[in-house]
Amino acid sequence: MNNFEFYNPTRIVFGDGKISELGRLIPESAKVLILFGGESARKTGTLDEVERALGSRHFSLFGGIEANPRYETLIKAVDKIEKEGFDFLLAVGGGSVIDGVKFVAAAVNYPGDKWEVVTKGGTTIQTALPFGTVLTLPATGSEMNKGSVITREELQSKLAFMSDKVFPQFSILDPVKTYTLPPRQISNGVVDAFVHVIEQYLTYPVNAYVQDSFAEGLLRTLIDIGPKALETPRDYDIRANLMWTATLALNGLIGVGVPQDWSTHMLGHEITVLYGLDHAQTLAIVLPSMLLEKLPQKQTKLAQYAERVWGITNGNDQEKALKSIELTRQFFEAMNVGTHFSDYQLSSDVIEPLVKSLEAHNMVELGEHQDITLDVSRRVYTAAL
Ligand code: NZQ
Ligand code: ZN
Repeated sequence: MNNFEFYNPTRIVFGDGKISELGRLIPESAKVLILFGGESARKTGTLDEVERALGSRHFSLFGGIEANPRYETLIKAVDKIEKEGFDFLLAVGGGSVIDGVKFVAAAVNYPGDKWEVVTKGGTTIQTALPFGTVLTLPATGSEMNKGSVITREELQSKLAFMSDKVFPQFSILDPVKTYTLPPRQISNGVVDAFVHVIEQYLTYPVNAYVQDSFAEGLLRTLIDIGPKALETPRDYDIRANLMWTATLALNGLIGVGVPQDWSTHMLGHEITVLYGLDHAQTLAIVLPSMLLEKLPQKQTKLAQYAERVWGITNGNDQEKALKSIELTRQFFEAMNVGTHFSDYQLSSDVIEPLVKSLEAHNMVELGEHQDITLDVSRRVYTAAL
């Protein structure tokens, strides 16, 4: 196992009805800005519930944070906070709202160009406003991690930053809040969480037995409950397990002490920014062809994945590895997430713009061996047509 440091200060308050605990979690004297997405939080009644739970606290609202949150929108929230003086932020929504709030929290009072919060990868963030979250979509793990992914439309950039300063203070996870999700978002959430585990697990062995076992357990759980979450949307236990699995998939725990490979995410971000596909759709396109491309380097772990996650016992390591990649693709397809560009009416003319975009964002040495060059990425995209 590699050396590591683990730090995660986010309090998780989990269960049916837990929004009522907001009064205990936010300081009595706080002036709160509630940030949310489109209309779902209002339509589902979650916003009302949040407002009631805040009691007599002074609060205001900032809505309109879109999926794949945009700098151009978020900067308006930063202005509002700097003018009106809020001292606690509350994100109500999915990964996009939470990521957006992380940017806003760090950008308020940031000296100089606020886009640097993102372009410097989070390294220049000195302070951030405290914030909590009410999660309504299990997928990203943003509710319990220090990462955020922000899009700047005018620059055609979708970039991630990380900082210890942007861990949520708390996150409320009420599985009942996921009942209103459209099937497409459940599918997206299952695929996103699955790929988060894969990118921290399918590299090469470093004898990290406990991280491997955790990762395999999360993957098996997603394979089991993913289809059920679509078939029986109001099954509390299925939604509860989905919610907690997605959180554990990217809260740092399974990623400590092991090599990681975020290349599928990086190639995927370019597809979203240029062609507008949902985050999880891009991952479903890239991952199977990335695994095929990197089969020689990943074969040992792929064979382990085949045995322990998919129960494949026949064949040599290469045969097991190939079978596991095929089953992974079938799983995404069974969740109704297409695994080829053609499923989204995109054809070979997307490849060069995507490769150029990777180059512009300096995504030129990706993967656990930093050997995924632009040529390799081009092959991966091409194999996914
Ligand atoms: O905007 P509203 O009307 O609220 O609708 C949202 C949105 O359209 C809707 N929704 C959310 N909760 C709902 C609901 N509809 C009905 N009932 C509910 N309870 O769902 C739509 C999608 O929401 P979004 O927040 O965009 O989805 P998700 O949670 O999948 O977040 C995706 C974003 O997270 C980033 C992605 O890149 C993408 O921008 N990621 C962040 C990560 C992190 N911070 O660690 C890691 C991930 O890899 C990911 O990259
Ligand atoms: Zn993701």
